[in-house]
Amino acid sequence: MTDQSILETGLLADIAAAPDVAALEAVRVGALGKSGVISGLLKSLGAMSPDERKVQGPAINGLRDRMATAIAERRDVLEAAALDASLAAGRLDLSLPAPPRRRGCVHPTMQVMDEMIAIFAELGFALAEGPDIEDDFHNFTALNFPPRHPAREMHDTFFFPPGADGERKVLRTHTSPIQVRVMRKANIAVGAPQFEVYRAPPIRIVGPGRVYRCDSDATHTPMFHQMEGLVIDRNIHMGHLKWTLDAFIRRFFEAEGVVTRFRPHHFPFTEPSAEMDVQCDRSTSQIRIGEGDDWLEILGGGMVHPNILRTCGLDPDEWQGFAFGLGVDRLAALKYGMPDLRDMFAADTRWLEHYGFSAFADPNPASGLS
Ligand code: PHE
Repeated sequence: MTDQSILETGLLADIAAAPDVAALEAVRVGALGKSGVISGLLKSLGAMSPDERKVQGPAINGLRDRMATAIAERRDVLEAAALDASLAAGRLDLSLPAPPRRRGCVHPTMQVMDEMIAIFAELGFALAEGPDIEDDFHNFTALNFPPRHPAREMHDTFFFPPGADGERKVLRTHTSPIQVRVMRKANIAVGAPQFEVYRAPPIRIVGPGRVYRCDSDATHTPMFHQMEGLVIDRNIHMGHLKWTLDAFIRRFFEAEGVVTRFRPHHFPFTEPSAEMDVQCDRSTSQIRIGEGDDWLEILGGGMVHPNILRTCGLDPDEWQGFAFGLGVDRLAALKYGMPDLRDMFAADTRWLEHYGFSAFADPNPASGLS
């Protein structure tokens, strides 16, 4: 018997005798590992004469391959045996509770948006949308912003670099461009086929969405959500605006007695314009709505300016309307007691698990709003 065949017989015996995968691994390392016997034989090839190498090369390589195969086969046998043993020994206890599964939740902003849409739907408003990346025309010009208005400055608004046509797009600073899009689509014949086709007046829509401003502190975040409202009809006046918003607020806060007040204000696109505050109590860490003698601003609104109506193809002598813009996140924070608006968009899942809503709690008039 040659040395190699003695080695082979010994190794095969060790492989067959290995009781478990760990023991088999020790045999493998001893033979085929970096400083294993067979690896040593392979290294010795370098020092041999060419004639000797011609004979020894295939012999040693063959030995190595046979050992590797034998080890792999034994490993399969041992692993199968180990699995059988553990299956025989273990029992599956179906009465044990399953590990908890993380469940996603609905962000309060989205929940509140749905609540708002449900309320306005009851009041006969349809839903409209517009793009987050707006052009200057829809965000400013059509809304009667004079050329040097501060909102057109870099420090208030996120502008994109000018495109090939020299036009700077903006991240919309408010949802009011939706008004313009709705009215123009409804009233001006457009060449290109439109995705959404709006009806001519009477118009009654709400347009929710994200808006962006260069602003950040405890009550302002650079991205936040608004909901635009627009009503166009004959003989519309401020009284309709006030009634609509009061009805909305009472329904939203589920409190009949909430007191609101209108303060005169200025917006380029409404005349007259107002901001609406709700009565609140700020004497504790949590703001309470409908109590106390303090006020909190929650929206801007007014009668649609005749210039906007004309830009949108409507005759101001025939059609009037009101518009308003509600702060969705602020309303969510007020209703559900979140102290800092910035936390709402910090993407912290612990915050979301605390303040979030079940995906099954879909707000609708039949099952309740909250
Ligand atoms: N777009 C205004 C803002 O963002 C709110 C508003 C909307 C005011 C509609 C009047 C009418 O502050």
